[in-house]
Amino acid sequence: MSRATLTLPLMNQSHPPTASLREVESEDSPRLLELARAAGVFRPSEIQALEEVLEEYFCRRPARHHALACEAEGAVRAFIYYAPAAMTEGGWYLYWIITEPAWQGRGLGTLLVRHMERELQRQGARLLLIETSTLPRYAATRRFYTRLGYERAAVLPHFYAPDDHLVVFAKRCECHPGTAYDSGRLV
Ligand SMILES: CC(C)(COP(=O)(O)OP(=O)(O)OC[C@H]1O[C@@H](n2cnc3c(N)ncnc32)[C@H](O)[C@@H]1OP(=O)(O)O)[C@@H](O)C(=O)NCCC(=O)NCCS
Repeated sequence: MSRATLTLPLMNQSHPPTASLREVESEDSPRLLELARAAGVFRPSEIQALEEVLEEYFCRRPARHHALACEAEGAVRAFIYYAPAAMTEGGWYLYWIITEPAWQGRGLGTLLVRHMERELQRQGARLLLIETSTLPRYAATRRFYTRLGYERAAVLPHFYAPDDHLVVFAKRCECHPGTAYDSGRLV
């Protein structure tokens, strides 16, 4: 993979740290699960699901699944996991993205999403999808996706639980002009 670096704007420091991206390794698993627990938004069943996803990733290496870690100041501070959307032409899902709470709002999530988008654009991706919840505790997460250009494409009421709806965010890739998404807005 190509590496990406970013100078982070830390307040009151004359030498801001840099962040770098790399593929995750099996030794990262405990740290990634720690980040998921620290995020404070996921249910135990979702943490369990992430554990199973990582086990599967390291044991079987599913084709075209990507798990990237973002390191800063000597530790993994954020990660992203994305994979093809089954039975679609050029559809991809961003399944997981998590930043350590103390590092949130400092650009790591944006760095990871932008890197994913560049890589998928190179591979001819057509549509990027993200699923999340409508619960208030995900409000900042939804703002994050909106700020990055993802639009609410669908809502499935009471999907996760009563009053916990599924919202699908979508973004078309620039490399596919002439589609229904050509205006840059979903129709
Ligand atoms: C959503 C998330 C991955 C964003 O990562 P990040 O490293 O904070 O993202 P960035 O610093 O690049 O961007 C911050 C932007 O995201 C939003 N944001 C989301 N959570 C935020 C937080 N806790 N602090 C500050 N900004 C946050 C803001 O809109 C902010 O925009 P702004 O810079 O214009 O104010 C991160 O906040 C997180 O881990 N949230 C909890 C886990 C989660 O919900 N994951 C997604 C579901 S799998």
